[in-house]
Amino acid sequence: MSRHLITSAIPYINGIKHLGNLVGSQLPADLFARYQRARGNEVLFLCATDEHGTPAELAAAKAGKPVAEYCAEMWEVQSEIAEGFGLSFDHFGRSSSDQNKKLTQHFAKVLDDAGLIREVSETQMYSHTDGRFLPDRYIEGTCPNCGFDSARGDQCDNCTKQLDPVDLINPHSTISGSTDLEMRETKHLYLRQSAMKDKLEEWIDTREGWPVLTTSIAKKWLNDGDGLQDRGITRDLDWGVPVMRGDQPWPGMEGKVFYVWFDAPIEYIACSQEWVDAGKGSDWERWWRTDKGADDVTYTQFMGKDNVPFHTLSFPATILGSGEPWKLVDYIKSFNYLNYDGGQFSTSRGRGVFMDQALEILPADYWRWWLLANVPETSDSEFTWEQFQSGVNKDLADVLGNFVSRITKFCRSKFGEAVPEGGAFGAQEETLIADLTAKIRAYEGFMEEKEIRKAAQELRGIWVAGNEYLQAAAPWSTFKTDPDLAAAQVRLGLNLIRLYAVLAAPFIPATSEAMLTAMQTDNNDWPDDVNAALTTLPAGHAFTVPDVLFAKITDDQREEWQARFAGVRG
Ligand code: 2FM
Ligand code: ZN
Repeated sequence: MSRHLITSAIPYINGIKHLGNLVGSQLPADLFARYQRARGNEVLFLCATDEHGTPAELAAAKAGKPVAEYCAEMWEVQSEIAEGFGLSFDHFGRSSSDQNKKLTQHFAKVLDDAGLIREVSETQMYSHTDGRFLPDRYIEGTCPNCGFDSARGDQCDNCTKQLDPVDLINPHSTISGSTDLEMRETKHLYLRQSAMKDKLEEWIDTREGWPVLTTSIAKKWLNDGDGLQDRGITRDLDWGVPVMRGDQPWPGMEGKVFYVWFDAPIEYIACSQEWVDAGKGSDWERWWRTDKGADDVTYTQFMGKDNVPFHTLSFPATILGSGEPWKLVDYIKSFNYLNYDGGQFSTSRGRGVFMDQALEILPADYWRWWLLANVPETSDSEFTWEQFQSGVNKDLADVLGNFVSRITKFCRSKFGEAVPEGGAFGAQEETLIADLTAKIRAYEGFMEEKEIRKAAQELRGIWVAGNEYLQAAAPWSTFKTDPDLAAAQVRLGLNLIRLYAVLAAPFIPATSEAMLTAMQTDNNDWPDDVNAALTTLPAGHAFTVPDVLFAKITDDQREEWQARFAGVRG
């Protein structure tokens, strides 16, 4: 039995995520976690909400709520939707937890002890009225380039010019509207990533078999010099992990917090402490400390490509720089973007289908299947309603659903609702078993390698093989001349339903459960021996004909949804 630590990039707290976010981290991570559990391995699968930084503060202000209250509420919302999608986290934590505060402050201390933190003096916009320094996004004014009157401190949304707050004409605070601003000196802590370059490069160079997308992004930042500039890890904000040196104050850093990207990945570790403190586990160190048994853990991270620099450089710099025996990631699976109907999904502009809306119109498995089968693995991919309709109708309704319905209904009509006895398998059945064995071994290979599209294709091929067999064996014809053989074919078909349920569970867990329930079995053993797996349900074993597993998406539905989701979410 192997041990798998699996984390998904932790979603920002500021709102419900769209399907593009889901397919780029949480969903493929869940697929892998479910697969590893199904293979009998020990899994710790963690995710959390990323609660700090200006986006959280701004979203809370927009909602008219104190930020802590806003985060607590949004955590509930995200947690419930994750459950709705069948995301099987062992724990869904919060980066604002006490555990994360302590651990973040601990890392800052040990990095400082190792000489990897330096203080830098900067000037930054200070608002007298608000009594605080303003992050760039909290300052607006007129763009010196195009005259747009609501340009932000970091960028003009009208002409896209990158700006510094001092460039703005008539700058004002977006909190109070005050123009009583001045540039003031402030001190910040910087992580000396540049001092870690060689160590990081060596680490990245020795990773074997990483996806090209991951290593190319890491290398680009490493060699550009850009990604390895020393990084400011503190901010003048109210909301965040207070800057402390372990449990001691950090002179000169009073009132400041750590930068959200410093504490967010540390939450991966803190989340396992939350998992223990919630009474769900008993020992987090055996997953994270190589001196406490984590040496034999395989740690896999899932994320969108925009997150790669933080996970290949910044977070490893924290871990390696600490000099402590923390577990480093073994494999980073990263994804391109999923676009929406000719444009981009966008949280800020409310464009696309959001997770709550998706569940309002169809059960999770429809989405899980299509999204995973079309995951943007090697390039960006696109969600269109036509392709979604066609994928669901063909793969789920015509192939899998149809197989289950035909075999169970035929059996009920000719033999009743129990597995028939019948004779021995013939040549056709032997051929099918050999074919399935090869396909299942290939499926396992793709799942192990996290080649998700190929795995989905192989699974579809496994379903198709069953349908083709049924079509060729035609027990409804055989029944007239050789009822014994027809019974054996039906027995095989009913066992295939159980087999399909087991194989498909990582992709479509709720449907897989419904299939097992219909087959009146809770035997979900992995088919190491396909021949044996196809005799699991013995003659006489009762079953029921399940309700339609997947309803086809009609053209009317497609058009209605296309129109409903064409605009922006309010
Ligand atoms: O891109 C995002 O949604 C970030 N909140 C991901 C953070 S992942 C990690 F480092 F914790
Ligand atoms: Zn402009």
